[in-house]
Amino acid sequence: MSNENSLKMIDKIMSDFISELGYSVADEMFLHVSSGKKLRSKLLLSIAGDSDNSLKICAIIELIHLASLLHDDVIDDADTRRGKPSINALFGTKDAVMLGDILYSKAFYELSKIGTQISSIISDAVVKLSIGELMDVRLGESFNDDSKKYMQMIYYKTAILIEATARCGAILAGYDENKFGLYGKNLGLAFQIIDDVLDITQDSIKLGKPSLNDYKEGKTTLPYIHLYENLNKDDKEILRSYHLKELDDNQKAWIKQKFTEFKSIEISIQNAKNLGKEAIEAISEYENEKLKEIIVSMIDREF
Ligand code: FPP
Ligand code: MG
Repeated sequence: MSNENSLKMIDKIMSDFISELGYSVADEMFLHVSSGKKLRSKLLLSIAGDSDNSLKICAIIELIHLASLLHDDVIDDADTRRGKPSINALFGTKDAVMLGDILYSKAFYELSKIGTQISSIISDAVVKLSIGELMDVRLGESFNDDSKKYMQMIYYKTAILIEATARCGAILAGYDENKFGLYGKNLGLAFQIIDDVLDITQDSIKLGKPSLNDYKEGKTTLPYIHLYENLNKDDKEILRSYHLKELDDNQKAWIKQKFTEFKSIEISIQNAKNLGKEAIEAISEYENEKLKEIIVSMIDREF
């Protein structure tokens, strides 16, 4: 099956899972959930191929991921997701929470029918994913200048589910779980670093949300931490004073100029590239071109 068709099959399995619940309100709401890039599915298919079991596990992981985004948009008070109105903007926060609950409970029900090895890897990852979201919210309450805390948070918030996906793919294919786990972890870390860079470098149309939005939300991402480490005392104070604020164009331009001066964006991208390189090295013996491409296209993406 072509990659394109496999991804369509995964969409179909997801919508069938929701229809099986027999409540048309959920189907109607689910139609408004944008299905996204399906990075996790592409990863699992590239490792384990597109057997029925692989496709079902992809659908389960995508449903969990979508549920986490529905809840994340409520937590972040986001009006848009991937350039379209978020579910909370369309139906209100209560409905968004409840639809998220339906998606992940159904996903776990389906997961319980898959072997214990795979279901325990995924469920353990989802616990950590939830802890990662809480870490993100807590870190955002005050200015964070500790890159270790940032890396730990993005490991849980983003990379853990990608790591779990790669592990499951390796188990299905009979490969070394730990090597693929390391690949997935590094892919996930690099993915979030690039996501955080794009919040700074892309315009609001490409992003589907205002640029420099993270800092306004309190998220001191890697480029900000790098910049802060390099600024002089007075400029450190200025940067801190902009944290959690709605910035005007001059203030945004000041931050962007400092990013250029200290190469904080290039250095953050270099960090992501190094992680990507380590990921490819971890699985080099498998000579899997698709997995190399996933890393390269993820780092070079524009949104
Ligand atoms: C997006 O991050 C958020 C996540 C990757 C994880 C969200 C996790 C939860 C809400 C835990 C609950 C889990 C379940 C299964 C219901 P972001 O806000 O940095 O990115 P964004 O710009 O895409 O919103
Ligand atoms: Mg968010």
